[in-house]
Amino acid sequence: MILVTGGAGFIGSNFVLDWLACSDEPVLNVDKLTYAGNLANLAAVAQDPRHVFVQADICDQAAMQRLLAQHAPRAIVHFAAESHVDRSIHGPAAFIDTNVNGTFSLLEAVRTYHAGLSGTARDTFRFLHVSTDEVYGSLAAHEPPFTERSPYAPNSPYSASKAASDHLVRAYHHTYGLPTLTTSCSNNYGPFQFPEKLIPLVIANALDGKPLPLYGDGSNVRDWLYVGDHCAALRRILEAGRPGETYNIGGWNEKTNLDVVHTVCDILDAALPAPSSRRELVTFVADRPGHDRRYAIDARKIERELGWKPAESFDTGIRRTVQWYLDHQDWVADVRSGAYQHWVRQNYGARGAAGGAA
Ligand code: NAD
Ligand code: TYD
Repeated sequence: MILVTGGAGFIGSNFVLDWLACSDEPVLNVDKLTYAGNLANLAAVAQDPRHVFVQADICDQAAMQRLLAQHAPRAIVHFAAESHVDRSIHGPAAFIDTNVNGTFSLLEAVRTYHAGLSGTARDTFRFLHVSTDEVYGSLAAHEPPFTERSPYAPNSPYSASKAASDHLVRAYHHTYGLPTLTTSCSNNYGPFQFPEKLIPLVIANALDGKPLPLYGDGSNVRDWLYVGDHCAALRRILEAGRPGETYNIGGWNEKTNLDVVHTVCDILDAALPAPSSRRELVTFVADRPGHDRRYAIDARKIERELGWKPAESFDTGIRRTVQWYLDHQDWVADVRSGAYQHWVRQNYGARGAAGGAA
């Protein structure tokens, strides 16, 4: 089996669902279930014996060691993190706890586990660390996109904590020979994204006729990737990536925030006509402190070496995403009301300790 950390979050749950749709190999899903973890995302596999959920904190090294010894995974895909830049500005401590110390604890547990493997199990084991393009800092309008050789220049507590974890992963490869793979991915969007992030927040507010807050003048640029494409890239890297390497993953979709929000408004207006265009709800608000101007990813290495390219354009991906949110307004309502947290007790409470089957 493979072990996934943070598999109840946005990208992790998409990854678990994709994995079980594409392969028969079981997944051990280890997640602390912070506000961002939502087992309702995994309702489709709640009865699937190939999905084993364990509520645990990656900072708990002894628990990680026990899980590794008990389940003997052949690979780990490490998503678990605090992931929201604005939250990191208001309260950086949780980002240091989970992203830095948590990754460190996990690496320590994995180092011991890997040292105890032998033969093929040892040679083929992989630790895939899921990171972000934000570690490279901010680009000016004329600068080329980030490559794997771009210098680290993180600007927010979030990106600094992810950069620290990347450095630890690099050191565990270099010093201990742990077969690591690191990915730096651009902004994801798609089903199950928590409505604190730009795209789901704007969809939810637009449907409620509420203001659509744009930081600053709305001209900051992000490179958007549909989450299903990210999952496909991770599967491919796990299969054929070279240990010790970093792979940048991006969608070649640079957009200003204003463009993104206008596109969402236009799709909603066409699907559910309103008395006036939802573009009128756009409200410019005070900028985020230290707001990175532009991110852009050069994804040629993963295409050249591993043959991965995104399947969705921004146009197709954003339409799929808006439609998903239109079809799952109950999911958004439950997240916003906090009702999703009852799902754990309702659905997993009876299945044994730690909210899961393990
Ligand atoms: P998310 O916030 O939606 O989910 C994070 C998950 O990790 C949640 O289920 C949460 O309960 C779990 N978690 C948090 N702390 C934990 C801990 N101490 N122990 C165990 N589980 C814990 O995040 P996401 O957007 O799905 O991002 C997943 C990963 O991908 C993160 O590492 C993030 O840095 C990276 N990433 C995200 C994006 C993006 O656009 N969202 C882009 C590039 C990289
Ligand atoms: P976000 O989804 O928080 O991702 P990140 O900061 O990791 O890129 O934000 C995407 C962009 O949208 C970013 O430039 C900040 C901006 N933004 C707004 O303008 N308004 C908002 O309400 C939010 C949440 C983000």
